[in-house]
Amino acid sequence: MSKDQHPVVLSTHNLSARYGKVEALRNANIQVRAGQIVTVIGPNGAGKSTLLNSIMGLLPAPGKAEGQIHYQGQEIAHCSVEQRLEQGLALVPEKRELFSSMTVEDNLVLGAYRRRKAGRSLRDGLEVIYTTFPRLRERRFQLAGTMSGGERQMIALGRALMSDPKVLMLDEPSLGLAPRVMSEVFQVISRLRETGVATLLIEQNSRAALQVSDYGYVLEVGEINLEGAAANLAKNPKIVEAYLGAAKH
Ligand SMILES: Nc1ncnc2c1ncn2[C@@H]1O[C@H](COP(=O)(O)OP(=O)(O)OP(=O)(O)O)[C@@H](O)[C@H]1O
Ligand SMILES: [Mg+2]
Repeated sequence: MSKDQHPVVLSTHNLSARYGKVEALRNANIQVRAGQIVTVIGPNGAGKSTLLNSIMGLLPAPGKAEGQIHYQGQEIAHCSVEQRLEQGLALVPEKRELFSSMTVEDNLVLGAYRRRKAGRSLRDGLEVIYTTFPRLRERRFQLAGTMSGGERQMIALGRALMSDPKVLMLDEPSLGLAPRVMSEVFQVISRLRETGVATLLIEQNSRAALQVSDYGYVLEVGEINLEGAAANLAKNPKIVEAYLGAAKH
């Protein structure tokens, strides 16, 4: 069965969000199928982070989302962040918030609530993270607040993975990561895809994002203006001009 026939695991219906008078997202309709990597590209301030934060229930105090969010066949727009997390949604937000005065390993373990509840081994989960990011194994007893920017990124991603997500949302995972570490991250996402985990990806590097994704949406000034198979978007002259530059790869 090709991935575009897999069941839809997450979808939004006319999802809008505003911060006071600013309408940051307008009637966004997106679909994510099991095992798919879906990317949202768009310029700064387009509403990409707002979209992910709305889905996770994490808009800041004056922020307000309207519309519907369906996850595994249920409307979740009224669920708390904890309930969404418990049901298998995970977000690595743009502002990675870690517990600075706790160790690397304790930060990772904090993500494992869902895993523990399902009776799955903490050790196995940690092992996967440490194999992917050997630096975190070396530094597992170091305080998270003293880790470098890129290392903190790894912790934030590792913590989200520890929750055993069904849908993983990543807000610019490559920020501050060396290219080699970034390719590790993309490999992790691709491996997760094989196990049916879906990823909703926002990435500054639109070329890399479209390469790794099955499907993509283009968000501009709060509205989705274009969508399609990632391979088609990557060939679309408008996308090439606006987001991919002139270089042909
Ligand atoms: N807490 C907030 N209060 C007021 N306005 C906000 C708030 N957060 C975001 N905005 C505004 O909403 C719009 C969308 O912001 P958002 O962070 O979703 O954009 P983005 O597409 O993620 O941009 P970037 O690529 O720069 O991360 C912007 O105009 C931004 O200034
Ligand atoms: Mg953003």
